[in-house]
Amino acid sequence: MNQPCFVTGGSGFIGQHLLALLTHKGHPVSVLMRRPHSLPALREQIEQLGGRGDLLAAVGGDLGLPGLGLDAAAREQVRQAAVVFHLGAQFAWGLAAEQARQVNVEGALAVAELAAQQGSRLLMVGGFMLANHEHLQRIGIELQRPERTDWNKVYQRTGAYEGSKLEAHFRVHARMAELQAPLTVVHPATVCGHSRSGHILPAQPLAGLISNLAGGLLGAIPGSTAHWLPLVSVDFLSGLIVAAAFDEQQAGQEILALDATTPNLQGMLQQLANTLGVSAPSRHVPIPLLRALLKIPGVPRLLRTDAESLDFIQTTRFDTAATDALVQRHGLVWPDITQALRMTARYLVSTPSAVSG
Ligand SMILES: NC(=O)c1ccc[n+]([C@@H]2O[C@H](COP(=O)([O-])OP(=O)(O)OC[C@H]3O[C@@H](n4cnc5c(N)ncnc54)[C@H](OP(=O)(O)O)[C@@H]3O)[C@@H](O)[C@H]2O)c1
Repeated sequence: MNQPCFVTGGSGFIGQHLLALLTHKGHPVSVLMRRPHSLPALREQIEQLGGRGDLLAAVGGDLGLPGLGLDAAAREQVRQAAVVFHLGAQFAWGLAAEQARQVNVEGALAVAELAAQQGSRLLMVGGFMLANHEHLQRIGIELQRPERTDWNKVYQRTGAYEGSKLEAHFRVHARMAELQAPLTVVHPATVCGHSRSGHILPAQPLAGLISNLAGGLLGAIPGSTAHWLPLVSVDFLSGLIVAAAFDEQQAGQEILALDATTPNLQGMLQQLANTLGVSAPSRHVPIPLLRALLKIPGVPRLLRTDAESLDFIQTTRFDTAATDALVQRHGLVWPDITQALRMTARYLVSTPSAVSG
């Protein structure tokens, strides 16, 4: 099994683990890179994560540029890809709407068109909020006729990152249907470190939460005992993405990558605090109150928290039966998520450069 692949976002957190897995399985992979000269560093990192650096090639380009900024040689290089994995995104709170739209929406459409034109399978990474239909309706998405959605209003409600991810999902769906090309989408929950090594990148939202807890900045638990932050470990997620991408039965499917056994937020913070040797917050603060506090200038900086991150803490429970069926079919094994959390916290404290400042 050595079909060539094309990956966007390969230098990112999930992307690194995906590259490690794909190359470990023997796939030659072309990676869209804004800085192709950093390929040697990426190769080294992928080897450290258990992959094969020699199977990686860089393709210079940018999701924010017309035609992805690919020249003729680059287009030729990616033409043979059996699967195009689209993970690249501007992933940050407080983005300008235009920037988010250009990279996350227009970029995703350009990747989708490229995959359709050259007859590659497209595996796109979305986000688990896309499986929460009540939430989507509440924020103004017209699920029956998404093209009627007022996206500017959605961006105002969710923040530009999440708004652009949601818009990208519906626009790519519509474009692939027009082009009669197959699309598979994997929707990850918040991504936790590697279940055995704990490896995580410092810019990840979960790493930020752990740093806040370690630094004594988390005085209360957002929400109630019913609130949780659903997680998935990065190694399990990569395995699921690869399984879905090469499985003909998953063409046209959306897969929720979410560990339903993730403890509630209180339990999660308690476990993290035990590992970090700090005390866990015990009082709850209602999310609307926290949201209001975070509107006060200076408070997000003081608490090192952004209101955009609060939407991911919720009470909704999800149906993961379809995911479990895929997991079984491919012989994947859900790792123990509490163990993965512990390893992530240990990795962050033992790797000073991984702690966000
Ligand atoms: N992590 C999570 O908890 C989570 C949860 C749900 C969904 N997701 C989704 O999963 C995907 C990957 O997330 P991640 O956590 O791995 O993100 P990440 O670590 O922030 O990585 C983002 C990747 O996108 C690339 N990128 C950003 N702007 C680009 C541009 N203009 N042109 C080309 N590449 C660009 C980055 O490349 P550079 O090296 O050039 O910056 C990097 O490789 C994203 O679509 C994200 O929305 C993540």
